[in-house]
Amino acid sequence: MAETTITSLMVQHHSVISGLLNKFKDAIATGQSNVDDEFLHAERQIKEHWSIEESVIFDFSKTMDEKRTEIILHLMKEHQIMTDMINTIKNGLMEKDYSALPKLMEMMEKHASNEESVLYPGLDDVLPLDKKANMIKRIEESSGELLTLKF
Ligand SMILES: [Fe+2]
Ligand SMILES: [Fe+2]
Repeated sequence: MAETTITSLMVQHHSVISGLLNKFKDAIATGQSNVDDEFLHAERQIKEHWSIEESVIFDFSKTMDEKRTEIILHLMKEHQIMTDMINTIKNGLMEKDYSALPKLMEMMEKHASNEESVLYPGLDDVLPLDKKANMIKRIEESSGELLTLKF
């Protein structure tokens, strides 16, 4: 089995999120009656993921250097912008207005691939081993469906 890293765990999280957003999108496209449930499921896991990123990873990494702090502030700003998009979709559920979804999915994908290619591999390289092991443990303990759902 491949080594568990911060990057490998976050790649798994991201794939669950994109899987859940795709399920929501498919439910809309095929007129399924569980559209709202699919949305709420995706929303819960996205918020869980951001909360893990912000409290376990970003919070510590901000203390490391200026360049990383800048990257993290940018990523957190994007979390906020995407939170607004999610709220827009939530407020539109009753009227079946899902027009904010394509933009949300596009931004989510770019955001995740940016994290997977820059911030997380960098942390996997430079973090002291004990610090990294501790972070991985905390992520695994709090992930729930983000590490168990498969798409
Ligand atoms: Fe993020
Ligand atoms: Fe992420």
